[in-house]
Amino acid sequence: MILSIESSCDDSAIAITEISTCRLLFHKKISQELEHSVYGGVVPELAARLHAEALPKILQECEPYFKDLKAVAVTSTPGLAVTLVEGVTMAKAVAVALGIPLIGVNHLIGHIYSLFIEKEAHFPLTVLLVSGGHTQVMEVKSLTEITTVAKSMDDSFGESFDKVAKMMGLGYPGGPLIQELAKNGDRKKYHFTIPLQGKQSSLLAFSYSGLKNAVRLAVEKEEKGNYADIAASFEHVATEHIIHKLKKYFQTHSPKTFAIVGGASANLYLRSQIEALLKPHGAGLLLSELKYCSDNAAMIGRVAVEMYEKKMFSRLDALDVSPRSSL
Ligand code: KG4
Ligand code: ZN
Repeated sequence: MILSIESSCDDSAIAITEISTCRLLFHKKISQELEHSVYGGVVPELAARLHAEALPKILQECEPYFKDLKAVAVTSTPGLAVTLVEGVTMAKAVAVALGIPLIGVNHLIGHIYSLFIEKEAHFPLTVLLVSGGHTQVMEVKSLTEITTVAKSMDDSFGESFDKVAKMMGLGYPGGPLIQELAKNGDRKKYHFTIPLQGKQSSLLAFSYSGLKNAVRLAVEKEEKGNYADIAASFEHVATEHIIHKLKKYFQTHSPKTFAIVGGASANLYLRSQIEALLKPHGAGLLLSELKYCSDNAAMIGRVAVEMYEKKMFSRLDALDVSPRSSL
């Protein structure tokens, strides 16, 4: 079995995965959404302190599995340095105490493998990762052959939902709150400009900072605090931006399978628009189970099984946290 730890942002999670079957034997996650909600976003120092409380509690519950552990895996990149270090330090301690190898996992690869929890992995795939930290399109041929073909130049898709929700005083995380508010709004009411159009339309990249600022102006003008139309129009344009860029990608590529992963892949409007886009191209859509879209340790454990079989171990003195990923 492999014990895996996730602490890259505001979720403390530990999983136990059986190596031979990929079966998930244990998974527990303690989220910090409530604690960060009053600040309208994640406060790194607070997050680190909460991980320091939550991770040992969950680890204690894993004690019955200790004798069967063959490795310990942990998210080491990308994420918040002060929160990653909580998980990495714990993983190193477990590795020393039990005399088992350490596996440093890339969180983005974790999101890709969230598609294959308790399942066999199938490639090639084109993957759209939409989370709080990332908006990127990757071509995945295998665990070690991943090419990023488009990414955000500034804010991410999920982050823009968080920031818009904060402007409206809704709380955190913004994604589900905006999605809910948008249900009662008119998507066509506000004509926010779709990012990276015109001269930049050939660019395969994403940008959300301009849209965020346009929404800010609309929020400031709306005196009655009735934000449903703004939320709906924002969600529409944020999604259209992705659809425009994917249309561009599909002009020169024809993947058989397309996947959406990451916390924001739970967005129903994004899902429906992407489904409609894929139909004429005959591409299949792969999604993670809803409970594994947001950060979790089961996806880290699933990657770790592949890495264990390839003996991709990290040296105790060499595994460091890295806030930015090389993917
Ligand atoms: O993958 P995740 O849990 O953490 C990161 O790796 O960043 O993603 C969290 C992000 C947050 O920004 C949250 O607002 C967003 O995913 N999110 C959504 C939805 N549910 C979560 N964004 C849009 N629509 C949603 N339904
Ligand atoms: Zn994530």
